[in-house]
Amino acid sequence: MEYNLSESGVHPFRVSELLGDMPVEFLNHSLGYSQTNGTEELRKTVAAIYPRADAENVLVTNGSSEANFVTMWSFLGRGTEVVVMLPNYMQIWGLAKTFQARVKPFRLRELDGEWKPDIRALRRAVGRQTKLIAVCNPNNPTGAVIREETIDEVCDIAGKVGAWILSDEVYQGAELDGRMTPTFWGRYKKVIVVNGLSKAYGLPGLRIGWIVTVRDLANKLWAYHDYTTICPTALGDYLARKALQPEMRAKILARTRQILQANLPLVEDWVDSNRDDFSFLPPKAGAIAYLKYRFKMNSSKFVERLLKEKSTLIVPGDDFGMDEYLRIGYGSPREYLTVGLNRMSEMVGQIKKER
Ligand SMILES: Cc1ncc(COP(=O)(O)O)c(C=O)c1O
Repeated sequence: MEYNLSESGVHPFRVSELLGDMPVEFLNHSLGYSQTNGTEELRKTVAAIYPRADAENVLVTNGSSEANFVTMWSFLGRGTEVVVMLPNYMQIWGLAKTFQARVKPFRLRELDGEWKPDIRALRRAVGRQTKLIAVCNPNNPTGAVIREETIDEVCDIAGKVGAWILSDEVYQGAELDGRMTPTFWGRYKKVIVVNGLSKAYGLPGLRIGWIVTVRDLANKLWAYHDYTTICPTALGDYLARKALQPEMRAKILARTRQILQANLPLVEDWVDSNRDDFSFLPPKAGAIAYLKYRFKMNSSKFVERLLKEKSTLIVPGDDFGMDEYLRIGYGSPREYLTVGLNRMSEMVGQIKKER
């Protein structure tokens, strides 16, 4: 495939951008197993991002996907009930089904020019049986950011039945307006925050994610993590510490914002020139645009043809249970993005001619 617009993060960082000239310390770094829940230094560095958290609240995982996995594994079993925000990164949805949990959805809806969680539907879905409410904020695939007062409403709903909240915040820090999405951490006791370096930091290859939660649960999940991947890689842990030093962190997030701000107008212009076929609510965060389309074709079929005939990959709305949508990643270099988008319009033109 020549053009990959299926990714949701920004064009990745390089080791040299993190380290400058290769320091001897890096070359001499032992390639043994690392501290299995993350080195204390990394856990302290992560904890410093969250109000009143300390190293004991943090479990470092191999990507935020492992963080989601161990949480779901420890919480869910046959018949347990989980309420999941949709659309979503569908890992949580799939895991819940795999663990034979009862899954109830609540949706984000397009309201007043914004994707907003349907809080009334959440209220209806959550009951005394609900063990966990899973949200994704900022949201994949819509790029929506849940407002602060809505976060409090979600906490309030969970509090009434004593449910836990799993908040996947892996796009936090990738806001177009530079205003950091508020975390669920610190607003409610039974919160599990998931985050990592793959999206806002452009470092998916490090495979570093984390959980921030109350100490007892962090300890319990550590055991699940031990039997899943044992530890983060020693080099991933080392480079993550460099990336999260306050100065470097600010530099990385500024680079991400600069890429998003430079590229989103390309998508907006493209949607505007293809307005007979496409529309979208611009994302508030993340390098993803969720496009609604109007031509008559199944989204997976469109994606298959685009890949086969135009060597360009995007994500079908089908994957999110929303057939009339397509998700594109706009975090790649501008020329690359432009060609990928042009190939999409060529494909649409061709399909319409065939009718
Ligand atoms: C919401 C969300 N969570 C988790 C992940 C997994 O990312 P990683 O394991 O690289 O941190 C993704 C990847 O696209 C995602 O979109």
